[in-house]
Amino acid sequence: MKILIIGGTGHVGTYLVPRLVMAGHELIVVSRQKKEPYFVHHAWKSVRQIMIDRVKSDKDYKFGKQISGLKPDIVIDMICFEPRSAKRLAEELYGRVRHFLLCGTIWVHGSSEIVPTDESQPRKPFGDYGIKKAAIESWLMSFSHKTGFPATILHPGHIVGPGWVPLNPAGNFNPDVYKKLAAGEELILPNIGLETVHHVHADDVAQAFEKAINNRSTAIGESFHTVSPKALTLRGYAEAMAAWFGKDANLSYVPWRDWKNTVSEKDADATWDHIAHSPNCSIEKARKLIDYNPRYTSLQAVQESVKYLIDNKSL
Ligand SMILES: NC(=O)c1ccc[n+]([C@@H]2O[C@H](COP(=O)([O-])OP(=O)(O)OC[C@H]3O[C@@H](n4cnc5c(N)ncnc54)[C@H](OP(=O)(O)O)[C@@H]3O)[C@@H](O)[C@H]2O)c1
Repeated sequence: MKILIIGGTGHVGTYLVPRLVMAGHELIVVSRQKKEPYFVHHAWKSVRQIMIDRVKSDKDYKFGKQISGLKPDIVIDMICFEPRSAKRLAEELYGRVRHFLLCGTIWVHGSSEIVPTDESQPRKPFGDYGIKKAAIESWLMSFSHKTGFPATILHPGHIVGPGWVPLNPAGNFNPDVYKKLAAGEELILPNIGLETVHHVHADDVAQAFEKAINNRSTAIGESFHTVSPKALTLRGYAEAMAAWFGKDANLSYVPWRDWKNTVSEKDADATWDHIAHSPNCSIEKARKLIDYNPRYTSLQAVQESVKYLIDNKSL
């Protein structure tokens, strides 16, 4: 198959492009060519890279035609954040592709209610990002069901991999949290540390895209959570990381209204975004319909990533 990935050099593309090339597909990657994959793989030698800025091109209504003009059999849209952009692209590709896959997010659910959350639960997103991704999902799935447009949506959790700082046990991206746990220093968590986070290794997200393509008949018209097998509480995550560093976790707890004043505004905003969602998603549907079988638990994914930061003196 000729597979085109829009935004294929990032966290997921780094793993997905080599997977698809090794499986014998012809790959086209569209990006602004600012970002490099996180690691070198010989598969990239056979990839055709095309420079297009999606945002600029969309403004001129050119983007869909540029993509369809490359005559792909399959399109993977990794970077769609605007409902009108999804609509224009899908309408342009209607009747022209065998499969259209779009990257969503578990933020489409809003706050967790009945856990683990499954894909059938009503969407109650909040925040611009989650609301728009849910609108994209709603429109695309209904377009697929009404017209037979071959669309699939994959909803990753917090994407983790060697090369960037994972979401930490305080629910933000400040690397000092790991330093405190490694040194056995006190780490203050919001509330009683029982809110949840749900990571996924970038290679497992890539696996889900590959398996959705391989299981096209059961993937079309469906959306799937793409997360590790189990979510973590902040407290459980902190304790496991401290143990991994060979320390006992020295945790204390402060109600959110006071906790937010103990960190920077940036960290507080990130933590609020994560604990207000407290994701805990089921992967049973993806296991059953596309044979998704994540290689990493949340902790394995995070630990591989933190080890990389330590080995590269970034932590
Ligand atoms: N990160 C997370 O934890 C997380 C969690 C859930 C869902 N998601 C979803 O994952 C998707 C992002 O995947 P990712 O994390 O693999 O991406 P990423 O690491 O952010 O990389 C973005 C890719 O898109 C390209 N790109 C960015 N802006 C572009 C533009 N205007 N025109 C053309 N190409 C552009 C980048 O290359 P250039 O910069 O060179 O253009 C790169 O190839 C999004 O749909 C997001 O909602 C992410």
